[in-house]
Amino acid sequence: MSTPAMRSLDPIPSTRTTATVDVVSAVPADGVITAIAIPVAHQADPPAELGHDAAALAAAGFTGRAGETLVLPASGGRVHVAVGTGVASEVDSATVRDLAGAFARAVPGHRGLAITLPVGGTGVSPHDFALAVTEGVVLARWSFHVGVSDTTALERLVLVTPEADADAAREGVRRGLVRARAAALGRDLANCPAAVLTATRIGEVAQELGPAAGLEVDVVGREQLVEMGCGGLLGVNLGSVEEPRMVRLHYVPDGPPSGHLALVGKGIMYDSGGISLKPSDESHAQMKNDMTGAATVLAAMTALRDAGCRAEVTGYLMCTDNMPSGSALKLGDILQMRNGKTVEVLNTDAEGRLVMADALALAVELGVDAIVDIATLTGACLRALGVDLAGVMGTSEGLVDQVRAAGELVDEPVWPLPLHRRYRSQLDSPIADLTNMGGPNAGQITAALFLAEFVGDVPWAHIDIAGTAQLPEARHWRNKGATGFGSRLLVELACAFEKPARPSP
Ligand code: BES
Ligand code: MN
Ligand code: ZN
Repeated sequence: MSTPAMRSLDPIPSTRTTATVDVVSAVPADGVITAIAIPVAHQADPPAELGHDAAALAAAGFTGRAGETLVLPASGGRVHVAVGTGVASEVDSATVRDLAGAFARAVPGHRGLAITLPVGGTGVSPHDFALAVTEGVVLARWSFHVGVSDTTALERLVLVTPEADADAAREGVRRGLVRARAAALGRDLANCPAAVLTATRIGEVAQELGPAAGLEVDVVGREQLVEMGCGGLLGVNLGSVEEPRMVRLHYVPDGPPSGHLALVGKGIMYDSGGISLKPSDESHAQMKNDMTGAATVLAAMTALRDAGCRAEVTGYLMCTDNMPSGSALKLGDILQMRNGKTVEVLNTDAEGRLVMADALALAVELGVDAIVDIATLTGACLRALGVDLAGVMGTSEGLVDQVRAAGELVDEPVWPLPLHRRYRSQLDSPIADLTNMGGPNAGQITAALFLAEFVGDVPWAHIDIAGTAQLPEARHWRNKGATGFGSRLLVELACAFEKPARPSP
């Protein structure tokens, strides 16, 4: 429940802080731009404007390795920042995003930043360079705070570009801002404490942000969920004083759609484990982020129109917290899900799959061409792949490949794991169609096999972001804390979406 003091915390602050990003032919002398990045390749002579040669930089410990920075005083109250690019021929978009983030973090007190592009000798186009710089700087300077922030808000970023490349760079900046805003919203929502961002509140946030982004928004409450037979979402919600919400988002492109994609996000606003209570350790303390899947679907969908997405997209945010109480779901209870299947609950902490199942069944009924779900689903995935890589499994190789390609493009990397059918027997129940609990090993696979029971023959891919939803340390453009990992990925996935072939039975 929200206390009066907490109510003043706005779950969507970053959507209002918008820095301007311009493409210019020379650094403006407006007094706002006070930090200028000067990219320096590994062991190469720096550009003359830096005012120091390679030997001087080396003496200060700077060799031009990718992401290295050295802040140097310059005239007029400005600083020059030597930013290492590594070997120029090896620079790709991800390196550019990283070094832009490193630059922005090296000058946290400056509100106006400039960078010259492109860097000679790299294979990155002016468009992609501008896109990655925009994302890198804007996302490095994003912050979520309740009290005083140690980061000065970014006011202005200029990209100094030769006239011939200016139009391409402008388009890159535009797309970079679209993606960065989606990521910022994903981070804001995932960082927001559960007492503030309840299921009811995320429904309101969707209603506040959706229409302006060209989305139809439909918030489904408890009564209607009962009529619809969404036993998974209702079952997990039993222990909570907060109402559940299923938020349906619908995007229809101008012109004939290239296909219809469903996106399903796990929206556990807080995962205490329920009656299978989690210990009060560090990972439990992160469980306000157990709605990162829902946050990324909402964040990505608010960006679809601006990103020029040509696919029709329907999103489902499956939102409730998972609490222990006198009315909570018990071990041994049997739930009936939207598609009629019955589930014996053997662990109330395996709740994500329960809420997701109803949405997967609804997407199948809708007749979509493919379903992609995203969820902080299993500790097993975190242990298998760590905090840098999300896992992906599915019934369609083509769709899994589309997810991987989108992740590659935005540097939110996703790694395939096998949907090994023989482990399905671990979910057998003597009294229901299946249980919600596999064996002690390969928990990310048995969780995915549970979800597979609800997708019929619709091509489906499942992204497990339990590891990537939270980072222990900020690095380059990536933030510490809840990351909103997947927002940018889903934008690009939807934009490049092609109907996959139906999986063979
Ligand atoms: N939300 C958790 C998964 C999780 C764990 C995410 C750690 C991030 C970090 C999920 O609901 C959960 O509790 N999963 C259990 C499943 C088990 C009971 C079958 C898990 O992974 O331990
Ligand atoms: Mn859980
Ligand atoms: Zn959970």
